[in-house]
Amino acid sequence: MQHLMSPLDLSVEELDELLTLANDIERHPQKYAHACEGKKLATCFYEPSTRTRLSFEAAMLNLGGSVLGFSSADSSSAAKGESVSDTIRVISCYADICAMRHPKEGAPLVASQKSSIPVINAGDGGHQHPTQTLTDLLTIRSLKGRLDNLTIGLCGDLKFGRTVHSLIHALIRYPNIRFVLISPEELRVPSYIREDVLRKNQVPFQEVERLEDAMGELDILYMTRVQQERFFNEDDYVRMKDFYILNRQKMALAREDMIVMHPLPRVNEISVDVDDDPRAAYFKQAQYGVYVRMALILTLLEVGVC
Ligand code: NCD
Repeated sequence: MQHLMSPLDLSVEELDELLTLANDIERHPQKYAHACEGKKLATCFYEPSTRTRLSFEAAMLNLGGSVLGFSSADSSSAAKGESVSDTIRVISCYADICAMRHPKEGAPLVASQKSSIPVINAGDGGHQHPTQTLTDLLTIRSLKGRLDNLTIGLCGDLKFGRTVHSLIHALIRYPNIRFVLISPEELRVPSYIREDVLRKNQVPFQEVERLEDAMGELDILYMTRVQQERFFNEDDYVRMKDFYILNRQKMALAREDMIVMHPLPRVNEISVDVDDDPRAAYFKQAQYGVYVRMALILTLLEVGVC
């Protein structure tokens, strides 16, 4: 049985197959409409979510399956002190597959070790968010036509932003990838990513503070929200939260074929006047998230569709 804890749990070939399946689902949704009839997805969310939880649920419903679950720690037995290991053993009796989000790094991994059904990490603290990465890879491959030969600007909270950490891990496996890491000094990528992931694999990257300095050379600009819930001190958050605001003036410095991505939710980091720019891809990205989660559920449940 396979779980998904990190994007690296899938080889480049497996990822490629999964993205191709997601593209087929996009083109022929009817073909997959009954593929998971009789199967149940449990969504165990110990931390707030709109897109991830609902896109998992939409994905399972689109496949003809059913969903059950909880959307906050307060409404589950975690509030009574139950461990994730016990919870997953019980959920294994009720459902065929589980998507779990947890504020503690590693909690879905602990759950997977006691689970008799596939567990998907739907975000664990500031660590990883592999299904957002699958969404991001599908968006990039569909809109840019490739996952290699790209200069990617990652902008905002690179310290706590788990979507950025997972995306870096996944993209360095493709040839000729270059990163421009755009953040204030205090929100730079953690040193384990800079040293053990980027430098160790000889991936070219540059760190800059001003978005304007990077804009003109990017194929993709990946904006992120400052992760308020992971700050220890409210004053630091208030100081950082509006550090970057992408607006029309800054978009004028970008290439005609650059795309702007954002895992959402957006706070202030992208002005709404950018939404009508044809290069704004963040709402399409949310739609791709449903197709890729459908493909992932089919893959982990080993459901074949002819
Ligand atoms: C992201 C997350 O939860 O890490 N959201 C999402 O899943 N689309 C990004 C964020 O919360 O900023």
